[in-house]
Parts: sequence; structure tokens; C-alpha cells
Amino acid sequence: MQKKLLIILAVNLWAGALFGQAPDTLWLADLDLSQMEIGWGEPHANRSIEGKTITINGRIFEHGVGTHAVSYYAINLDGEAERFKAMVGVDDDANQQRPSIQFLVHADRRQVFKSPILHFREAAFPVEVDLQGVKLLELMVEDGGDGIGWDHADWADAFILYRGVKPTARVTPKPEPYVLTPSPRPEPRINGARIYGGRPGRPFLYRIPATGERPMKFSASGLPAGLELDGNSGIISGKADAKGTYPVTLTAANRLGAATLLFKIVIGDQIALTPPLGWNSWNCFACAVDDRQVRSAAQALIASGLADHGWSYINIDDCWAIKPGDADPGLGGRERDSQGRIRTNAKFPDMRALTDYIHGLGLKTGIYSSPGPLTCAGYAASYQHEEQDALQFAEWGFDYLKYDWCSYGEIARQPSLEDYQKPYHVMRAALDRADRDIVFSLCQYGMGEVWKWGAEVGGNSWRTTGDIVDSWSSMSGIGFSQAGHEWHAGPGHWNDPDMLVVGYVGWGPNLHPTRLTADEQYTHITLWSLLASPLLIGCDLTRLDAFTLNLLTNDEVLAVNQDPLGVQASRVKQHGGVEVWVKKMEDGSLAVGLFNPNREKSVVSVDWNSLGISGGQTVRDLWRQKDLGVYRDRFSREVPAHGACLVLLRQI
Ligand code: GAL
Repeated sequence: MQKKLLIILAVNLWAGALFGQAPDTLWLADLDLSQMEIGWGEPHANRSIEGKTITINGRIFEHGVGTHAVSYYAINLDGEAERFKAMVGVDDDANQQRPSIQFLVHADRRQVFKSPILHFREAAFPVEVDLQGVKLLELMVEDGGDGIGWDHADWADAFILYRGVKPTARVTPKPEPYVLTPSPRPEPRINGARIYGGRPGRPFLYRIPATGERPMKFSASGLPAGLELDGNSGIISGKADAKGTYPVTLTAANRLGAATLLFKIVIGDQIALTPPLGWNSWNCFACAVDDRQVRSAAQALIASGLADHGWSYINIDDCWAIKPGDADPGLGGRERDSQGRIRTNAKFPDMRALTDYIHGLGLKTGIYSSPGPLTCAGYAASYQHEEQDALQFAEWGFDYLKYDWCSYGEIARQPSLEDYQKPYHVMRAALDRADRDIVFSLCQYGMGEVWKWGAEVGGNSWRTTGDIVDSWSSMSGIGFSQAGHEWHAGPGHWNDPDMLVVGYVGWGPNLHPTRLTADEQYTHITLWSLLASPLLIGCDLTRLDAFTLNLLTNDEVLAVNQDPLGVQASRVKQHGGVEVWVKKMEDGSLAVGLFNPNREKSVVSVDWNSLGISGGQTVRDLWRQKDLGVYRDRFSREVPAHGACLVLLRQI
């Protein structure tokens, strides 16, 4: 440390000798770091991203800023600053994983420094930048081209030598959220999927999602034998024994009129014929989840109107079971009862009562486990109890199981493809013995290119990536890297790029509004809809603000996600920083997403020949639910920074 001070003193003296007066030193860590954009977590002054001593390849630094790719920080200078210096690298707390990061510095929008791509356990790399005459200094950390996983980045010993006005962090005002979706009309409209699958002889539950003034009366013609509709609630339930495809006409009527929908019920071998839509507890409550919150989420799904747009699952994630060894008597204790049945912790006193409550609202509900002995958060899981647990989940009344690899990594230490598949085969076979339709959601972060075999092992969906967080680089990094996976998705088996990070999120107990801007959230929902991804809202539904509700209730956007053809969008253009994705719809129309991942607004255009179409096309803006007219050959739109435009093209 003393050596460092001496160096700074020497630099100051040198500069002082040159200009007659010594410059001042400002540590980067002393600026307002809340203005730093970051891909994961929070930036830390004089600590690593995980709050530890800044260490790069064993070398300890007392000063600096621990951040995470992708990161951006802008600093105002007055043209009289002299120099920016730092040592940069991957922090040792990245812990053997394979991060790769690159540091860049821009002075007045010109690149003046670019590090090599740096990895774990590589020596700190020096940065020295001349700031004479510069008014804007930008510090960036990029992800090295392979996503942001474990990209723990340090600006170690970073300081600015300045003479005039003390440098300050540039404050970027967060743009006000703006609403695009028109409000639902008071006349009835039936929303949601146009096809729904169930297996013969299994409990069937479907709440007709309809908007419009209440009271509303529902009717249905053509229902398979064994199913009944409650005309007041719009809930179809029962058990249908005969396999077949049943065209059903659903009607919803109120004092202002009636709406009908041609709906297909398919009693057969497949479920999840369209991607599941619902809520999951993890991105908001994480381990702070309890029975009361799950009930409140179910209530809120109905009360907010979300259920009237097709949102129907209420899923409990990790942390409902016993946590072996935990001193809290409400969490710790015996994992299983004398018959080997898995026990809940005190936060879930009666699972059956909970699922009954949720089913009573016409909603479905999910649970979570791991093929390993413990879940990711260290709670009891299904290893060597798979069949018993599958039957227990069915007996409790669950309709969805997220099955998360977690501690199975200790069972299969250097997994072969067969090892990756094995636990999912085992649980699939167990679920097949249960007397319920249970959506099987694989969660193993994309290992072994799961998209190639997720359907083969009986998954209804499979996570293709690590965990999402509410940052632009996390969301967009995951979303835009889904190109190429589309060949493996289809009705009954979907790629899952993780849950939504809109609304109040925070991985419990403390929540915050998502850090995504409005435009970033439009990109998120547009992209996930085009990707035919399961849509699981990750926020506290009891604190839904008007913007978030509006974002999640656009029936024309959701119809892209729920299209019965079940095609996942392909990327047709990636040029000049902008992207165009297209999804073929059942009726022959094309849903086209125009994306602008740039920091500045850009014009994004799409040529008909890149879409394999020609001639006049009507273009409809799905977010605004507005026809834009007939276009020939191409369509262009100015798209805000990090924003998206979603249109539907229909041949005239
Ligand atoms: C992770 C999973 C998350 C969440 C968490 C629970 O592995 O990707 O979505 O389920 O475990 O501990």
C-alpha cells in the first residue's frame, strides 16, 4: 500500500512539476456507483462483486470497484483531467468457472483502450489513458463474447488525476415507462390459447380466459364426454376418457354482447400444446416464499385480470421442503416421514389445502424438486425417492414439476450425455405412473445441449441457459442467444430461456422494481413471445403497477406466444447491431420482431425476400393493436435504444 501511495505521490509531483500545481486524485470507488450499469448484482467500492477483497490472480488490491459484465459507467470531466489509471482483470472470487471479460475505455466517444479478453487466474492488466481535453470518460466491461456467466470484473486501483472540477458520475435519467397496450373493452372477448391438451382419464381443468364487463355467462358446445363447464365461472373440469380432437365452441356473454371462440380440446398423449403461462415464486421471493404468498399470488392473478388473458399456473419454486441441518425448527428436521414421504417445512403447513385453494380459482399449480439429494438452495430433494415423490406431488394435486439439476452434480461428477439424461428419464417414468397431467419442466441450464434431447426424455420444456437477472445484458444476452434452438421446439416441448424479470423482483425478502427500462421490457416480452417460451412471471403479483400489468395483458402479443402451430422464431437478420426475428403463425401470417440492442435509437428494416414473401402485406403493430397499412417489399421502423417493435404481416 505504501508503495502505491508513493507512486501516486510521484505521479502527482511529476504532473505538478509540469504544470506548476499537483493534480488531485479521485478514486473510482469514491464516485457515485449507483449510476454504474451492471449485468448481475451491485457494484462494490473497494470490494469484489461478491463483497470480498479485490484479488486478481492472487494479487490483492485495496482500492477499486468490483463489477460484473456487461457493465457501463460514464464520468463527466471538465476537459482538465489528466489521466485515468487502473489494473483490470477477473476477480478470483469467480471461483474456477470460466469467465471471460474485456475492458474498454472511451474518451469523448472514441475508444482509447481495449484490453485483451481476460480469463480467470490471469494477471491484472494495466490501463493508462490520457484525459487531456476530455469531457466524457466511459468505462465498459464486455462479456468476451460468451455470455455473462461468472464475469466478475475488477477495476482495481482505479483513479483519475484531475485539476479543475472534480469528476462526477453521469446520471442517466431512467425514461418514464410508457403504455402501449390499449385497455380491454367492456364487451366480452375470449383470450388465451386456441388449443388445449389433456390425457384420457386424468383430472381436466381449464378456466376460460375472457375480458369484458362482469357478470359474464359462459357456454360451450362440443365438449368431450366427462367434461363440464360452470357457466358462471367459466371453469371447465372433469375427466374425459375418450381420446380424440374435439372442436369446441366457447361463448362468453355479458350485457353488451357475446363473443365466441373456436377452441380445440385434444384428449391424447400430449399436454402443454402451447407454452405454459403463469407465475413462479423464485425471481421475487426465492427462499422467503410461504403458503400465504402463494395464495396471494393466485388471488392476484385473478383480481388483476391476468388470468383473463390466459395466465394460469401458480408455481412454487425452491424452499418448500425441509432444509436438512437447519437450526430453525420451522425449516430443519426429518426430511421424510416414517413411510419415506417427503415433508414440507413449516411455511407450507398443508400442501393439499393450498392446491385445492388454487384449483378452486380455476388455476393450476406447480412444485419444484431436484434429482440430487438437495435442491440448489440446500432443501431436501428427490434422489432415490423419485417415484414416491412423483406420486406425492400428484396426490398433493400439483400440475407442474420443475426438476432442477442442482446437487445431482455430485452424483454425476463428469457427466456423459447419458448421465445428463438419466435423472430426467427416471422422473419421467415416475410421473407417468401418477394419475395426473403434470407438466415436466427440465432445469439444467442447457448442459449437454439439452434442446437436442429434452423432448426425447419426456420434457415439456427445458431451460436453455443459466439464471436470468433483471439487467439488460442478462436478459438480452439470454434472449438473443436462442437462435438455432428453434428446430427443437414444438407443441408439447418448448425451449425455456428462463422466467420473466418484469415488475417487483428481488429474490426475496427485499424486492425492487425491475432494473429494465420500459423499452427493455418490451424487448423481453416481444422476444420471449416470439421464442414460444413458457412465460412465467417472476414478480410480486400483489404489487403490480399499471405499466407491468399493461405489458403482460396484450392479447395480440400473447397470441404470438400461444399460436397453435408452436413454431419458435428464427433470426433472419443480424446487421449493424440490430436484429430481426420471424415466427410463422398457424394462419400463414408472420410475426416479425424488429429489435434494436444498440444504445442509440436505430432504424430497423426487414426485406420481404429475407422472409420468403413477396407483394403487398398488411402490417399490424401488435403492441399498439393498430394496422399500419399495406407495405410492399420491405418494412422499416425507428426503434428506441434497447427497444423492440412487433408486427404481424399478412399477405393481401
Ligand atoms: C436454480 C434455478 C433457478 C431456481 C433456483 C432455486 O438452479 O435455475 O431458476 O429454481 O435454482 O434454488
